[in-house]
Amino acid sequence: MGRKVSWTVVMFIIITVGEMKTRASEVCNPQDLKGLTAFKAGIHVDTSDRLKKWVGHDCCNWEGVSCNNKTGRVTELLLPGLFVTEEGLPFQSEMEGRLSPSITLLTSLEVLDLGGLISLAGTIPPLIGYHLPNLRKLYLNGNNLSGPIPESIGKLSKLEELGLYENHLGGRLPRSLGMLLNLSKFLVCSNQISGPIPVSFTNLTSLVYLDLHSNSFTGHIPDDIGSLQKLEQLDLSSNLLSGKLPMSLTNLSSISEMYLDTNLLEGEITFPSRYGDMPSLGFLRLHDNHLTGPIPPAFGNLASLQRVSLANNMLEGAIPSTIGNLLSVTELYLNGNQLTGQIPTSISQLSKLLSLTISYNLIEGPLPHEMSSLQNLQILDMSFNRLNLSSIPKWIGNMSSLCRLFLAESGMTGAFPEFLRNSPLQYLDLSANHLTGSIPPWLGSMTSLYSLNLSRNSLVSKIPDTITNLQYLGVLDLQSNQLTGPIDQVFNIASMFPLTYIDLSNNRFSGGLEVIDVGLQSSLGYLSLSHNHLTGRLPVSIGRLGSMTSLDLSYNGLSFNLPESLGNVTSLANLKLQRNRFTGEIPNGFLKMTKLRDLDLSDNLLVGEIPFGKPLSDFPVSSYSGNEGLCGNPLPPCKG
Ligand SMILES: *[C@@H]1O[C@H](CO)[C@@H](O)[C@H](O)[C@H]1NC(C)=O
Ligand SMILES: *[C@@H]1O[C@H](CO)[C@@H](O)[C@H](O)[C@H]1NC(C)=O
Ligand SMILES: *[C@@H]1O[C@H](CO)[C@@H](O)[C@H](O)[C@H]1NC(C)=O
Ligand SMILES: *[C@@H]1O[C@H](CO)[C@@H](O)[C@H](O)[C@H]1NC(C)=O
Ligand SMILES: *[C@@H]1O[C@H](CO)[C@@H](O)[C@H](O)[C@H]1NC(C)=O
Ligand SMILES: *[C@@H]1O[C@H](CO)[C@@H](O)[C@H](O)[C@H]1NC(C)=O
Ligand SMILES: *[C@@H]1O[C@H](CO)[C@@H](O)[C@H](O)[C@H]1NC(C)=O
Ligand SMILES: *[C@@H]1O[C@H](CO)[C@@H](O)[C@H](O)[C@H]1NC(C)=O
Ligand SMILES: *[C@@H]1O[C@H](CO)[C@@H](O)[C@H](O)[C@H]1NC(C)=O
Repeated sequence: MGRKVSWTVVMFIIITVGEMKTRASEVCNPQDLKGLTAFKAGIHVDTSDRLKKWVGHDCCNWEGVSCNNKTGRVTELLLPGLFVTEEGLPFQSEMEGRLSPSITLLTSLEVLDLGGLISLAGTIPPLIGYHLPNLRKLYLNGNNLSGPIPESIGKLSKLEELGLYENHLGGRLPRSLGMLLNLSKFLVCSNQISGPIPVSFTNLTSLVYLDLHSNSFTGHIPDDIGSLQKLEQLDLSSNLLSGKLPMSLTNLSSISEMYLDTNLLEGEITFPSRYGDMPSLGFLRLHDNHLTGPIPPAFGNLASLQRVSLANNMLEGAIPSTIGNLLSVTELYLNGNQLTGQIPTSISQLSKLLSLTISYNLIEGPLPHEMSSLQNLQILDMSFNRLNLSSIPKWIGNMSSLCRLFLAESGMTGAFPEFLRNSPLQYLDLSANHLTGSIPPWLGSMTSLYSLNLSRNSLVSKIPDTITNLQYLGVLDLQSNQLTGPIDQVFNIASMFPLTYIDLSNNRFSGGLEVIDVGLQSSLGYLSLSHNHLTGRLPVSIGRLGSMTSLDLSYNGLSFNLPESLGNVTSLANLKLQRNRFTGEIPNGFLKMTKLRDLDLSDNLLVGEIPFGKPLSDFPVSSYSGNEGLCGNPLPPCKG
C-alpha cells in the first residue's frame, strides 16, 4: 500500500516536471507579455502574492496564466480573489489598483476571471469588444469598477458567461445555490458599474449566463433580450431598472433562472405568451418592483416553475385557477400585493408545495378545505387579508407537515382553537384576531413551539404554568390582551427557557420584579412589560441580562432607586422607564451603556445631576423631562 502511494507520487512529480519543461520552453508572445506587465503595473497591492511571482519573460508559466500550446498566445487569465491555496485552503485575497486597459493586448484571451478582488478599480476597457473577440467567459464581479459597460461588449459574439455582479465570493458558486444561501452577509463592497444596459447586449447570442445583480444599472431591459436563445441564467436583480418587462422575455427558450427582482419595473407580467414558452423556467423572482395588473392565467403554463416570488408589487385581481397547473412548485410568494377573491381550489393540486405566502393582500375567506390535501406544506402565511374566518379551519390540524402557521388579522373569534392541542407547530401567529377566554393549560402540549404570537386579542387569564413544558420557546408575544397574574410567576417560568424575546406589554400583570431570578435569563434580548400594573423595585440581578438590547418597563408603578447594576447591561440600545415612580439619582454606571440609542426616563421622581458624558448627555431634554429634581446637561445646570 505504502509503495503504491509513493509510486503514484513519483509518477505525479515526473509528469508535473515534464509538463513544466515543455511549458517552460514556450516563449511568451511579446504582445501578451506587454499586456500582462501593464496589468501587473496597475496593481500596487496584491495580498495573494501571486503577481510577485510574475518575473522574467516566461508568462505562460505565471500563476493564473494559461497559453495555447500551439500558438503560444495567452488564452486564460484566472486571478479570482477567492481561490484555493497550495495547502488546499480557501483564501480571500484583494488587489488594489486600477484595471489596465492594456489587458486588451491579450487578443487571444478566451477566459478572463478577475472576480472578487474587492478593491480593483477602473473601468471595463472601452475597446474590449474589438480586441478580445475570442472571450468566452468574463468575470469582473465583486470589484470596485465604475462607469458604464462599453457598447463594444456587443461584439463579443463568443461570450458565454458574463459576471459583473457585486458579491466578492469570486469563484463560480453555482447559481442554483444563490437561492438557498443568503449571500448578503458576505457582501463587503460593490461594483459601481452604472448607466443603462447596452442595447448591443442582444447581440451576445452565445450567452448562457448573465449576472449583473447589485449594481446601479438604470434604464430599461433591452427590448430584444428574447434573442438570447441560449441564455439559461439571467440575474438583473437589485439595480435601478425601470420600464416594462420586454414582451420578448417569453422567447427566452433556454431560461431556467430569471431574477429581475428589486428594481423599479412596472407594467404587467408579459410572459409566457404561448403555451410551451420558457419550458425550463424553474426559478423566477419578480418581487419588489412596481408591477401592476393581474397574474395572467397563462402563468399556469410555466410548468417547470419551482420557486416563484411575485411579492411586494401592485398586482391585483384574483389568483388565476391555472395556478394549480404549476405542479413542480415548492415555494410561492404572493405577499404584499392587492390580490382579491378567494384562494382557488385548484391550489390543492400543488402537491410539492412547501411554502405558501399570500399575506398582505385583499383575499377573502373562507379558505378552501381542499387545501388540506397539501400534505407537504410546511409554511402557510395568510396574515393580513380579508379572510373573516370566524374560526380557524379545523382541517388545518390535518396538514401533517405544517410547522409554521401565520393567520394574523384573519377575523377569528372565540376561544383559542382546541384542535391545536398536541400540534407540532413551531411558529404560530394568531395575533390581531378576536380570540377570547383563557390561554388553555394544554398549551403545554404544543411542545415544538418556538414562536408564539397571540398579541392583540382579548385573552383574559393567567399564563398557564404548563408553559414550562415548552422547552424550545424562544419568542413569546402576548402584548395587548387582558392577561393577569403576578409577573414574578410569569417570569420565573420564562427564565427556564432559551427565550430571546418577551412582549407582555399592554396587559394587566401585577406585582413586583424583586424576586425574579434573572441570572438564568442570559439569552433574553428583548423584554417589554410596559403598560401593566407592576410595582416595587428593579432587582440588582437585572444587571445580569447581558444580551439585552431592548428593555421597556414604561407605564407601570415601579419605584425606588434605579440599580447601579443596570449600567452593566452594556448591550442595551433601547431603555424605556418613563411613567413610573423611580426615585433617587441616575446611577453613574449608566455611562457604561455606550450602545444606547434611545433612552426615556421621563415622568419619574428622579433627582440630582445627570451623570455627565456620552451617551447620557447626548439625549434630548424629552428623555429626562417630568423629573422635577433632575438637572445638568441636557437639562439646565444644577444650582450651587
Ligand atoms: C495541447 O493542447 C491540446 C488541447 O488543449 C491537448 O489536447 C494536447 O495534448 C496539448 N499538447 C501538448 C503537447 O501538451
Ligand atoms: C472604491 O473606490 C472609491 C473611490 O472611487 C474609494 O473611495 C473606495 O474606498 C474604494 N473601495 C474599495 C473597497 O477599495
Ligand atoms: C439576508 O441577510 C440580511 C442581513 O443579514 C437581511 O437583512 C435580509 O433580510 C436577509 N434576506 C433573506 C432573504 O433572508
Ligand atoms: C449586432 O450585430 C450586427 C451584425 O454583426 C450589427 O450589424 C449590429 O450593429 C449589432 N448591433 C449592435 C447594437 O451592436
Ligand atoms: C419571439 O420569437 C418569434 C419567433 O422567432 C418571433 O416571431 C416574435 O416576434 C418574437 N417575439 C418577440 C416579442 O420578440
Ligand atoms: C364576517 O363573517 C360574519 C359571519 O361569518 C358575517 O356576519 C360578517 O358580516 C362578515 N364580515 C365581513 C366584513 O364580511
Ligand atoms: C382529518 O383527517 C381524519 C383522518 O384522515 C378525518 O377523519 C377527518 O375528517 C379530517 N378532519 C378534517 C377537519 O378534515
Ligand atoms: C406579533 O404580531 C404583531 C401583529 O399582528 C406584530 O406587530 C408583532 O411584531 C408580532 N410579534 C413578533 C415577535 O413577531
Ligand atoms: C458590574 O460588572 C462587574 C464586572 O462583571 C462586576 O464586578 C460588578 O459587581 C457589577 N456591578 C454591579 C453593580 O452589579
